[in-house]
Parts: sequence; structure tokens; C-alpha cells
Amino acid sequence: MPGVAKQACTSSPRSSRESMSQRTRIGQSYHHARRLGAILAVLLGLVPTLALAQHPGSVFDGATPQARSISDYFVLVLILAAVVFVIVEGLLVYVLLRFRARPGDGRPRPVFEKQHLEITWTVIPILLVALLFVLMLPVMGAAEDAPPDAYTVTAIGHQFWWEFRYPEQNAIAANEMHIPVGEKIRLRLQSADVIHSFWIPRLNGKLDLIPGQTNEWVLEADTPGEYMGQCAELCGVQHAWMLLRVFAQPRPEFDAWVAQQAQPAAAPTDPTAQQGAEIFRQQACGNCHTISGSHDPGGVAPNLTHVGSRTTLAAGALTNTAENMRRWIHNPQDIKPGANMPTFKLSDAELNAVVTYLEGLK
Ligand code: CUA
Repeated sequence: MPGVAKQACTSSPRSSRESMSQRTRIGQSYHHARRLGAILAVLLGLVPTLALAQHPGSVFDGATPQARSISDYFVLVLILAAVVFVIVEGLLVYVLLRFRARPGDGRPRPVFEKQHLEITWTVIPILLVALLFVLMLPVMGAAEDAPPDAYTVTAIGHQFWWEFRYPEQNAIAANEMHIPVGEKIRLRLQSADVIHSFWIPRLNGKLDLIPGQTNEWVLEADTPGEYMGQCAELCGVQHAWMLLRVFAQPRPEFDAWVAQQAQPAAAPTDPTAQQGAEIFRQQACGNCHTISGSHDPGGVAPNLTHVGSRTTLAAGALTNTAENMRRWIHNPQDIKPGANMPTFKLSDAELNAVVTYLEGLK
């Protein structure tokens, strides 16, 4: 091309200024690319480090054979994906730098039918997906069913909280599930409204709770302790605050807990708590929240018969303290906007009485 030849042979002061500014620009781009690379490296290193940190809900810290096989598989996929990411992005950056437009370049020549390249980038992903499929089969096999005589717990998903029913003892709990340690529990999963997903990363994978259908599977904890979980299906504005906790306890402790949960509510003896119970009745809180031994099957809000015995409020959004209970009842929408709990206009004295009553329900 004549233009190219002319520019290549000319060496005027103007073109040397241009090539200097060109070099400065390339230097700046190189500097930016290095900085971006450093940020990416920090982020890529930081995310797994944070997730690996000892957390009762860590996906990297399986506490059962099922959870461990899922987390091993997850790490394998993560490593493979990271290798593919580095190779593909590395090639992309290399091509961008190596074949970038230079002053005087003409239109690049189009390239057609590099058959060996096309075959390579089709076959490699097929092999990778086939490998992952084969390695996934034993992981799926590890998610077994509960034995026929297994202890059964029904978990019902609601927007945005969990209901746990223990049919053998006719006990109902909310947001915090207790199970006997070292036993395979049959978990029956149902939904009261939309699709939710039950997920305790350290115990097992995820399973959906679907309206009008019951899904069954097994839950087991090998060691006593607290296991954190989370609704894993986008179910509305407060999906992120639909947390759940599993407390795995030795059988005698579990039996005592479930027997206590089956008891009717203790009648308040303290005058403030008695006043609170009266306000609870006047405000028709019982239209949604059951407090009794009657266990209304149509409960649209958490059963409060033993609310004082729980460690958290509002499906894990708050720790269960009198102050947090006051904040929650005073303005639930301030804490969980979009939750179904309305705001009641209670005076400070009324609020105090209701909180005293509820916190006394152990
Ligand atoms: Cu329930 Cu997300």
C-alpha cells in the first residue's frame, strides 16, 4: 500500500512526536492492564479465602460424606474453570497486545476455515463436560434416600421463613431446626407459597420446596453443632434473609428439646407479661401467629409458642434479644422491607409488655 510505504520511510519531527505519544499510550495501557491483573489476582485469591474461613455455612467444609463429595466436586470444577479462564483470557490479552493496530496498518486480511482450530476448541469443551459428567455420577449417588424407619421432619417454606413440624411429637418450630446427631432424618419438603430451596451446605446439597408437591430426602449430621443454611431459590424481596439453622444434638438432648416444643405455651405470671398477652390478643396477632398447644395447621407466620427459646428472630435476620424483638415489632419493614409482618402502632409501654410476654415463652 502506498500510504504504508510513505509513512514507514518518513521520519519527520511530527511523526516522531506522534510515535512518542503512541509509546506513552501503549505504556499507559500496559500499566492499566497490569493494575487490572493485580486487582483480579487479589479478588480471585480473596474470594475462596473468605469462603474457606471457618463459617458454620461454608461450602468448603462438608461435615457429612454427601456434603464432602459435593464440596470436592465443586473444588474440582472451580480449579478446571480457573485453568480454562486463565488460558482463554491469557490468549485474549496476548492477541490484543501482539496483533493490536499499529500506525499505518491496512485492513487486516480476513481468515477463513482454520479447521484444526475449530475442531480443537469444540473437542476440548466436549471432553471437559464429559469428564465432569462421569465424575458427577458418584456424587449424585452419595445423595441417598432415608431408611424406611427414619425419624421424619417436615420443612415448609414460607415467604420469608421456615416452618419445621415434628409429626411424631406434634411439635412445631420456626427457622431453627433441631435434629438428633448421627441419625439419618427423612426430610419432607413442602412450600406454602412459591418455590424455595433448602440448603445446608455442610450437610447436603440443595433441594427445592415446590407448592403442591412433597420432595423427600435425607439429612444427617455426623457431629453435634450448629449448621447454617439459606434459602437457595430466589423467592421474593427478602430471599436473602431467609436463613435457617440446624442444631444437631445427642439423642437425649434432642428428645428433651422436641418434648419442650410440643408443650403448650407457659401462662404468663408477671403482670407486665400478662398485659403483653392481652395486647397480643387485642391486636389480633394470633390471626397469623399461633401461641398455644393447638398448632393451627394454617399458620401463615411463625408459631410463637416457644419463641423465647430461639437464638434468632425474623428468620435469622436478628439475634433473639429483648431489644431486637422490640425493634422488630416496632417496625419490621425497617429490618426486612417486603416481609409480611405489618407495623403496629404500639406505645413504648405496650411494646415493652408484648416483648416481655414473648421473650418469656421459652
Ligand atoms: Cu425462600 Cu428464597
